[in-house]
Amino acid sequence: MRQRILITGASSGLGRGMALEFAARGRHLALCARRLDLLQALQAEILARHPHARVAVRALDVNDHARVFTVFEELRGELGGLDRVIVNAGIGGCVPVGSGGFAANRATAETNFVAALAQCEAAVGIFRAAGGGHLVTIASVAAIRGLPRAQTVYAATKAGLASLTEGIRADLWGTPIRVSAIYPGYIQTDISSSARRRPFLVDAATGCRALYAAIESERPRVFVPRWPWAPVAMLMRHVPLGLLVRLL
Ligand SMILES: NC(=O)c1ccc[n+]([C@@H]2O[C@H](COP(=O)([O-])OP(=O)(O)OC[C@H]3O[C@@H](n4cnc5c(N)ncnc54)[C@H](OP(=O)(O)O)[C@@H]3O)[C@@H](O)[C@H]2O)c1
Repeated sequence: MRQRILITGASSGLGRGMALEFAARGRHLALCARRLDLLQALQAEILARHPHARVAVRALDVNDHARVFTVFEELRGELGGLDRVIVNAGIGGCVPVGSGGFAANRATAETNFVAALAQCEAAVGIFRAAGGGHLVTIASVAAIRGLPRAQTVYAATKAGLASLTEGIRADLWGTPIRVSAIYPGYIQTDISSSARRRPFLVDAATGCRALYAAIESERPRVFVPRWPWAPVAMLMRHVPLGLLVRLL
């Protein structure tokens, strides 16, 4: 049982939904994001429903790397340890490469990959010292292939994050530290609402229930929801690029 769970990007969407799922199962939570007012509202909602829960919140911009380490350490102290860290904070907002949007693409690359690395570093440092823990990263089915248009940089960041996660798992092989990469398909949130097409879209409640089950399984790579995304990802991996471009 991973009792004390830190989630980044918990102010909205999947992070918020996962927090509610774990709280409903009696877990204690450490929640971070930039919008502290939303985190405090979520904290109040959880405590109203589950008065015995412990919920710590912190304002955190994950691009402030030094603060990632400080905040994770503060939250570890506040909950008396961390059993699981979910690296979830992320953004979309990309534009086609070469279309004059380097600033937006760089922001996504930094938030979804470099800042995710900072979070993994901080989490694994805590787990190494404690002798155990579960690192979870929220990648995407977009990690499977290079993708066109506004998805190019986003997909690359998620492929990088998935590879980073597998490398950390390789490095920690044989230790009590577990490492999982989660590959969500389209789930209704602020990020997914800007997508051009959203095949197999599920609502946030359905998606977050599936995320909860996937994370609890502690399997190394999980597609969410598993059906249809596990077989779709297999197809995406092998379909000719020209066909993939027409489908997306
Ligand atoms: N929804 C989908 O269909 C889908 C599919 C595959 C993967 N994902 C991934 O799931 C994760 C969560 O996304 P979502 O769908 O829940 O979108 P969302 O509702 O837009 O949530 C994104 C979360 O990330 C936080 N965040 C963004 N930039 C941050 C920063 N610099 N520092 C700290 N927190 C930051 C936001 O909080 P603040 O703005 O308050 O900081 C927010 O809580 C992302 O990594 C996304 O790539 C989503």
